[in-house]
Amino acid sequence: MNNFTFYNPVKIFFGKGQISAISKEIPANARVMVTYGGGSIKKNGVYDQVMAALQGHTVLEFCNIEPNPHYETLMQAVDIAKRQEIDFVLAVGGGSVIDGTKFIVAAMAYEGEDPWDMLAERAPVKGAVPFGTVLTLPGTGSEMNSGAVITRVSTQEKLSFGSPHTFPQFSVLDPETTFTLPLRQVSNGVVDAFTHVLEQYLTYPVNAPLQDRMAESVLLTLKEEGPKALQSTQDYETMANIMWSATMALNGVIRVGVPTDWATHYIGHELTALHGIDHARTLAVVLPSLLRYKSEVKKEKLLQYGERVWGVNAGTEDERLEATLQATISFFESMEIDTKLSDYKVGEDTIKQIVKRFQERGVKNLGERSDIQVTDVEQILLMSL
Ligand code: NZQ
Ligand code: ZN
Repeated sequence: MNNFTFYNPVKIFFGKGQISAISKEIPANARVMVTYGGGSIKKNGVYDQVMAALQGHTVLEFCNIEPNPHYETLMQAVDIAKRQEIDFVLAVGGGSVIDGTKFIVAAMAYEGEDPWDMLAERAPVKGAVPFGTVLTLPGTGSEMNSGAVITRVSTQEKLSFGSPHTFPQFSVLDPETTFTLPLRQVSNGVVDAFTHVLEQYLTYPVNAPLQDRMAESVLLTLKEEGPKALQSTQDYETMANIMWSATMALNGVIRVGVPTDWATHYIGHELTALHGIDHARTLAVVLPSLLRYKSEVKKEKLLQYGERVWGVNAGTEDERLEATLQATISFFESMEIDTKLSDYKVGEDTIKQIVKRFQERGVKNLGERSDIQVTDVEQILLMSL
């Protein structure tokens, strides 16, 4: 097992009725900005529950944070929050609202010229205004990690940043908030979380059986519960299990002491930046090709995954590898997610564009062995057509 340092300070309130807990978590004299998206929280009663819990606090709202949150929108929030002397922000929504809020709170404390440099130039994040979250869409894991992915519309870039300052102070995970999710978002959440686990698990063995089995537990749970959620998004137990699985998939626990890949995410972000394809769908397109392209060096973990998660244990190694890849693709498709670039009307032009961008950005050494170069990215994307 590799050395590691583990730190995760996020306090979790899980279960029915837990939104009321936020009243005690936010200082009584705080000036609170509540951030949210396009209005789903107003239709499903989450907004009312949040406002009831914040009674007695000074509250300001910032809405219309869009999916794949835009730097341009978030900078408006930063401006308002600074002028209004906001000292606590509460994000209510999915990964986009939470990520957007991480950017807002870090940008409010940023002392350099342009907070975008935290992403484009990796400028250090030296502080942030405290914030909490109420999660309404399980999938990204943003509620219990310190990372965020932000889109800059003017340049069509989608970049990430993170820092110990951008952990939420608390997150409320009430499965009842997910009952109004469209099936498309349920599918996205399950496939995103499943891929998060695979990016931290399908690398090479370092004799970390506990991390492996924890990763496999999350995969098995998502495999069992995901299809049930498509039958009914209002089944409390199913949504509860998906919600906690998605949080566990990316809160740092399964990553400790093991190598991680993340090349699928890195490539996928370009497809969202250029074509607006939902994040999870870009992963479902890139991951199978990446695993096939790298199957030789990922062989040991792929075979283990095939056997323990999909029950693939017969045939030659090559046959088992292929059966494992097919089982993964079938799972994504059973979650109603297409797995080919052509399904999204994306062709070779886009691949050329991504290659050019990566060359300009000097992208190199992706993957757990730092052996995925731009030419490999091109091959992987061509295999996804
Ligand atoms: O905006 P509203 O009206 O709230 O509607 C949203 C949005 O249209 C809707 N929705 C959310 N909760 C709902 C609901 N509709 C009905 N009922 C509810 N309870 O769902 C739509 C999509 O929301 P969004 O937040 O965009 O989805 P998701 O949670 O999948 O987040 C995607 C973003 O997270 C980033 C992605 O790149 C993408 O930008 N990621 C963040 C990560 C992180 N911080 O760790 C890791 C991930 O790999 C990912 O990159
Ligand atoms: Zn993801």
